[in-house]
Amino acid sequence: MILFKKSRDLHDFLKEKRRRDIPVGFVPTMGALHAGHISLIGESRKKGGLTVCSIFVNPTQFNDSKDFDQYPYTLEKDIDGLEAAGCDVLFLPSVKEMYPEGLKNLPHFDLGFLETVLEGKFRPGHFQGVCQVVERLLKMVQPQFLYLGQKDFQQCMVISKLVEIMGIDTRVVICPTQRESDGLAMSSRNLRLSPSEREQAVYIHKTLRFLRQELKPGYLDDMKERAIQYLAAEGFRVDYVEIAEAETLKPVTHWDGSTPLVALIAAFINEVRLIDNLLLQDSH
Ligand code: PAF
Repeated sequence: MILFKKSRDLHDFLKEKRRRDIPVGFVPTMGALHAGHISLIGESRKKGGLTVCSIFVNPTQFNDSKDFDQYPYTLEKDIDGLEAAGCDVLFLPSVKEMYPEGLKNLPHFDLGFLETVLEGKFRPGHFQGVCQVVERLLKMVQPQFLYLGQKDFQQCMVISKLVEIMGIDTRVVICPTQRESDGLAMSSRNLRLSPSEREQAVYIHKTLRFLRQELKPGYLDDMKERAIQYLAAEGFRVDYVEIAEAETLKPVTHWDGSTPLVALIAAFINEVRLIDNLLLQDSH
């Protein structure tokens, strides 16, 4: 695996590959890699061509500075994991490299409705930060394929919208959430959980499964309320439990029995905020 810290060097290297028509797949990350990230590298490798991964803990997407300060950093292990997975290129820029003009006066992206709900509502400015960094990364890497995990359901929609509004010639490939054997969605933030918090964390997935089991046409408010109470009883501080149209993320209060739905949860265990989601008509 070749490591680049400067976008200029990465750009020159990739330009040469593009000249030879070698397709590029890209997996952007913030490090603290787990099997979910590694599965994205695997998906990219299946296509052939070149796989580029970036590790950059992007300061502009953290609305909570404590969360930024405590974001796990496991670079050596990450490099080993990427090498073992057959990743070709690691881009490891500094903040100065990504934001040479500083962190002020960054562009604003018109994300419309998507930014007003769920993560957009509870983490103001978060998706602007995601778009600021992803747009820069996409300009630098110019991949044919961009691999994202469904675990960040809303982020996948936001980045797809970014690609569309900026006219970026990249196909977004959304890959299934990777889960631990008890169902907990893999996440870098799981590293911050104590053993007892780790046990507690599984209730997020259990609650999503409860929602899938309970789903029937008609009003959904009661089951959402029961899910919130269930999580609160297990010691969570709940930001939201929502059932939304899977294609638009519009919250649904009354289900017609056919519109594809997704259930989404964000909840704190003490200081650690976890998110997860489940497509309600999927059987696995
Ligand atoms: O999902 C993440 O790890 C980040 O939001 C991303 C897409 C790498 C942008 O910083």
